[in-house]
Amino acid sequence: MKVLVTGGAGYVGSVGVHELVKADHNVVVVDNLSQGHRDAVREDAAFVKGNLLDAEFVDAVFDEHTPDAVMHFASKSLVGESMEKPFLYLGDNVRAGLNVMRAAANHGTKRFILSSTANLFGDPAEIPIDENEEIAPGSPYGESKFILERNLHWLDTLDVLRFASLRYFNAAGAASPDLGEDHDPETHLIPIVLEVALGQRDKIEIYGDNYDTRDGTCIRDYVHVQDLAQAHILALEALDDQSRVYNLGNGNGYSVQEVIETARSVTGAEIPSEIGSPRPGDPPELVARSDKIRTELGWSPDYPELEDIIASAWAWHQKHPDGYEE
Ligand code: UFG
Repeated sequence: MKVLVTGGAGYVGSVGVHELVKADHNVVVVDNLSQGHRDAVREDAAFVKGNLLDAEFVDAVFDEHTPDAVMHFASKSLVGESMEKPFLYLGDNVRAGLNVMRAAANHGTKRFILSSTANLFGDPAEIPIDENEEIAPGSPYGESKFILERNLHWLDTLDVLRFASLRYFNAAGAASPDLGEDHDPETHLIPIVLEVALGQRDKIEIYGDNYDTRDGTCIRDYVHVQDLAQAHILALEALDDQSRVYNLGNGNGYSVQEVIETARSVTGAEIPSEIGSPRPGDPPELVARSDKIRTELGWSPDYPELEDIIASAWAWHQKHPDGYEE
């Protein structure tokens, strides 16, 4: 298939591109490089730089490439930032997504895969979280993804296209020592912990140890970025018949303390830590029940162990201590 990948220079998107090309799909990446890196896009994928908020630009890309499918990774994706700057999310995230959907609809592109999020569930009643859990977005970020899911629901109902929404839990790890996570500023736990291991930071601040969890620190479900990418390939191929919504995690929860301990054992570094204040908006525990995608699409993570996830990230950080160096 010819697949247009928005945000294909970003952390998860670039790994999606890698897996698509390996699976013999023809890939066109669209990215404005505001968060992504040109060097993260493999050379055998076409690359177009531009802004998805510009509807004419988006139409022109579809005119030129007439894709069979879209993978829409491009997004602002920080819960905390969305609480401070809601219109970047309720405005820009939604408008960019709608521009891509409108162009897909106008050009007969029948398959659409959306990167969605566990933040759709806010602070859920049941752990692990399945697809029947009540939607109650925890932030404008989660809300922006829910709005896009609802738009896709209507395009499906009106027979315009079929969609898959993949609700990621915590994307982590590196696809190879040359294809990893590089955010600026970095806010995510695993890369920050590894920056401490490298001596680039003095310590890791643990955001609160008074949560109602086994050691008082927050529990998350870390899923390897390559396993996420594989789920996209499976979803793309399964969109012949019906639209699909899946929660995507390993089903194992690890506390912040456990992540730091595992990183100490993987890296052999001391990794000093300090307890700080809770970060507003962090729910105590988010762990996925991913039985649905396992049963329906045969998805099975190749890297379910936290140790392997952190080891892959460590290989990337050691080889590229300053990330992509454009
Ligand atoms: N944490 C710390 N110290 C840090 C950074 C993070 O203690 O310096 C803690 C956080 O409080 C949280 C855990 O580590 O409990 C994981 O935090 P991340 O920032 O790595 O990830 P989040 O769980 O906050 O968010 C991620 C994605 C979101 C997505 C969410 C869904 O970044 O886009 O998962 O679960 F919405």
